[in-house]
Amino acid sequence: MIEVLPQQHEQKWWKEAVVYQIYPASFKDSNGDGVGDIPGIMSKLDYIRDLGVDVVWVCPHYKSPQVDMGYDIQDYEDIHDQYGTLEQTVELIKAVHDRGMRIIFDLVINHTSSLHSWFQESRSSRNNPKRDWYIWRPAKYDANGKRCRPNNWRSNFSKPAWTWDETSQEYYLHLYAPEQPDLNWENKECRQAIYRSAIRFWLDKGIDGFRIDTVNLYSKHPGLPDAPVVYPDSESQPAMMYYANGPRMQEYLSEINDILGDYDTMTVGELPYTPREADVMAYISARNKQLNMVFNFDVVDLGQTPGARFIPRPFTTRDFKRELFKWQSVIENTDAWTTVFLENHDQGRSVSRFASDLPEHRVRAAQMLAVILATLTGTLFIYQGQEIGMINAPRSWSADEYKCIKSVSHLSEVREKSKSDPHALSEALDILQKMARDHARVPMQWEGREATNAGFCPDGVTPWMSVLESHEAINVADQAGRKGSVLEFWKQMVRLRKAHKDVFVYGKFREVEGDDNNNPDGQDTIVFVKEAPDGAKSVTVANMSTKEKDWAPAAVLEAGRDFSLAVANVDDLKENRLQPFEARVYISAA
Ligand code: GLC
Ligand code: CA
Repeated sequence: MIEVLPQQHEQKWWKEAVVYQIYPASFKDSNGDGVGDIPGIMSKLDYIRDLGVDVVWVCPHYKSPQVDMGYDIQDYEDIHDQYGTLEQTVELIKAVHDRGMRIIFDLVINHTSSLHSWFQESRSSRNNPKRDWYIWRPAKYDANGKRCRPNNWRSNFSKPAWTWDETSQEYYLHLYAPEQPDLNWENKECRQAIYRSAIRFWLDKGIDGFRIDTVNLYSKHPGLPDAPVVYPDSESQPAMMYYANGPRMQEYLSEINDILGDYDTMTVGELPYTPREADVMAYISARNKQLNMVFNFDVVDLGQTPGARFIPRPFTTRDFKRELFKWQSVIENTDAWTTVFLENHDQGRSVSRFASDLPEHRVRAAQMLAVILATLTGTLFIYQGQEIGMINAPRSWSADEYKCIKSVSHLSEVREKSKSDPHALSEALDILQKMARDHARVPMQWEGREATNAGFCPDGVTPWMSVLESHEAINVADQAGRKGSVLEFWKQMVRLRKAHKDVFVYGKFREVEGDDNNNPDGQDTIVFVKEAPDGAKSVTVANMSTKEKDWAPAAVLEAGRDFSLAVANVDDLKENRLQPFEARVYISAA
């Protein structure tokens, strides 16, 4: 008789995968022009494989004017010149496969670059056959006859979401930069073109799926109504309630799935502005056939005001735990799947944001985060540099070091509003030092002191973004093969995760909260239990603070079970005490 195990999830390669995210511009420069490239990625595939990675995710490498670092695509079927050629990309796919790994690309189809031939045609005249492939609206006029935008929506880069087109005398919608016009998904021909050019083209070249950019923004609320005014002094207002999760999302994702059904793929959608579990379930429940999993924003949005990244809002470890654990339970008694991540190309470094990047703490802090991430349920994502514990750029960075469109436009807004008040600028830099996307985008740190450009590009060349001085202490060359390094520790955690995947990947999650309430000192301690369908268990314990904490193992490690210590990031464990940023994992067989 086959025993039916309760809540067992169907096992799939993409659920068990450890995914490694690469930002091509900053990973490895092979030809000395200061910009990372595809041959550079090729040269580091063994390094990635040795980490225990199963899937490589490459951020947009397509032909693009790089207004938003490739998230503005000019041609889905061609490669950004500085990154390489189509042939090299096909070679990359093969080289990844040859090493037993899979590869996914970014799918950016809410918008194109304004240089895409589709938009060039669309804007050429109101009668152009592709006019309706983008979202065009006539101007409105106020009582004084002044030309106004069709509605008050604000783009995700702070400015109004509509731009006037002189030639054809209408406004077009862009939820991001003006150089990123939104495609009109209502138009069937347009959808067919997207499917052909952005999706099938690459699946036929052998890739194994997609990370889908801003996946829930394609369907806008009909009529494009004005958003409620929350910033009375501003000409534009946050309007996600009218452009996220619109009424036709399900239909569009079903169409995409009809194509994916011809291949063995994984999909992970970026799902902003969707905090409610029921709304998320609609996307990730397997029977709905929409997405395999999504990135929720709850934990990475900590520290900022909703919808306003650069308006800081303090948070505690308790908040961190709540948000990090929020999506652990969505797989319980459901057919849904989830993700585990703390970093990507849009976020500051996790050690700097959630732990401590001080020299005396950062190694242990990075290892502690590794312990937490590698023992949580879901598909695990690691962002380049996270595996060596890279940290944010220092506060001494001047404004012109920041290159990201979001940072640059924020700084120019601050300058404008404050009339270049040095105090306002300094405050803005304080915030950017924590929250800017730039911190993830600096060159990968391959080598130490001996290489001024950290081995990312040859010394003497000016890299497209400054190499951090911290590369002298934090780099691959120093850590590879060195016991106690963040890199070796990550490898150990990945191995452990795979050796006990029923517990760590598929296990049922339960937070042990007791401490927080009974003992104020326990506030900064994280304790959770995982349980495999067969009854095997693990306990993860972490001290998120710079102070020693009491911890009573007996309260968690059940009597009568044979728990053994599987990993710890300190050598001299103390009984009933956790050292700053200490983390441990215990396991017990069924
Ligand atoms: C996503 C990307 C981000 C980009 C935006 C617009 O959020 O991760 O980098 O700016 O979409 O495409
Ligand atoms: Ca290069």
